[in-house]
Formats: sequence, structure tokens, C-alpha cells
Amino acid sequence: MKNNIVEYWDFRSSDYHTEYAHCIDEEMDVWKSIFSEILLTDKKIRALEVGTGPGILAISLAAMGHDVTGVDLSESMLGKADANAREKGVNISLLQGDAEKIPLKDGEYDFVFSKYLLWTLPQPDKFLDEHSRLLKDGGLMMIIDGLWFQNPDGTEKECSRFSRFDELYADVKPNLPLAKNNTPERITDLVQSHGFEVVSWRFLDDYFSFLERNDPPGHAAAYTQPPHMILAKKISQGR
Ligand SMILES: C[S@@+](CC[C@H](N)C(=O)[O-])C[C@H]1O[C@@H](n2cnc3c(N)ncnc32)[C@H](O)[C@@H]1O
Repeated sequence: MKNNIVEYWDFRSSDYHTEYAHCIDEEMDVWKSIFSEILLTDKKIRALEVGTGPGILAISLAAMGHDVTGVDLSESMLGKADANAREKGVNISLLQGDAEKIPLKDGEYDFVFSKYLLWTLPQPDKFLDEHSRLLKDGGLMMIIDGLWFQNPDGTEKECSRFSRFDELYADVKPNLPLAKNNTPERITDLVQSHGFEVVSWRFLDDYFSFLERNDPPGHAAAYTQPPHMILAKKISQGR
């Protein structure tokens, strides 16, 4: 499965999110504002973005003065993240790795986050165990994802906008527990059963407005609803 997943994202790296390249500063402002809302600290933190793709979130957080690493399975995506970071004059560390077995040391991160990754993981349990391992006690996890591949009435979308996706994910998608019905309620339940205390969740209306304002034809309209953001804290061992 991972071979197909990596082949797809290597392929998509050439055009993924490039529709928004002309408004990268506006997008970075949206993420900076969200990070300011959730981090509530002026202290420099150590953060990790898993499934960083073109690195927009990692770059936004690093531009706020934090120490940020981005991990991705796809080398080509990491190349895009590196090019974007250079263009923005921001320093981030990049590392090839699997979200279900991240090649980094235990307990070194204050904040671990991902956007649009959970749905494509064959073993979300392992991903959450890795977050728990990498975070310091009391560290913060942020998961952003959405309801994909379904119509507003809950029925399944027959095919995606991308034929290569349909081809490479055909045998993979049925084995992804959160590709379907990826609701915030399901994620909060899952997170709670992995040693996290859910702090809050909300729809990212602010990010969705940004997508709509700069919408390439039909892109934001293809969302079933605005993406959701779940925040949870690793429960301290001593508690
Ligand atoms: C939908 S893209 C999201 C990229 C980025 N987070 C964003 O929102 O712009 C999914 C990303 O997750 C990466 N990915 C997929 N499976 C992964 C895994 N098991 N471990 C790490 N990265 C993975 C893909 O290579 C791709 O860059």
C-alpha cells in the first residue's frame, strides 16, 4: 500500500496546492493567526509537521521564530517544501519518513501537527502512538482533516478529480480506516483512546474562506464542509 501512496504523492508533488502559489503570503497569514490562537506562547517551541507536503504550515510556524521539522513519505514533496522554504527565506528541517514509524527521538517536541494526512494512513493507531512517543508530557497535538470522497448527503463520491488517484488508490482506499466518514467526532474518540485529552475542536472557517476567496474553479466547492481542527494534549505520565 505504501508504495502506491508514495507513488501518487511523488506524482502529485508537481501540482499539489500550486493553484494557491500566487497567494502564499495570504495563506501563511491565515496559519500564523491559527498558530497564535492555539499556541498561546511567546517562547520558542520545538515543533514537527507530519505529512508536510509543500510545507506551508511548517514554513508559517518557522517564520514565527519556532524550530520546525517537516516529515513526509515523499521525497518529491520534500523537495517542494525545501524550495518553498528557501523562497520565503525560512529555515526548516526536512526528513523523509513514515508517519506510522517516524525516525525521530522520544519526548522532544512541544507541538506535533498534521494537515490532510490522517485519512490516508492505513494504521491511524500507530500514527497516534508515534505522536504520543514524540511529544513531551503535556505537549500539544493538532490534527486537521476533512470529510473527503463523500457528498453532503453522506453518499460516496464515485470518483475523484484525479484519474491517477483512482488508479493508485483503488486497492488502498478500502483499507484506510479514515478515508470514509472522517468526522471530528470519530477523531476525538480515537485521540482520547491513545492517551490524549481533547482540548477542543472547530471547523476551520478562516482557512476555508481563504480557499474560497482564491478558489480555482470548483476547488473549494468540492469540499463537503470546511476542514476540522482537533487539538489534544498528551496526558502527563505523572497524572
Ligand atoms: C493531502 S497531502 C497534504 C500535504 C500538506 N499537509 C498540506 O496540507 O498541504 C498528504 C501528504 O501526506 C504525505 N503522506 C502520505 N502518507 C504518509 C505517511 N505514511 N507518512 C508521511 N507522509 C505521508 C504525502 O506524501 C503528502 O505530502
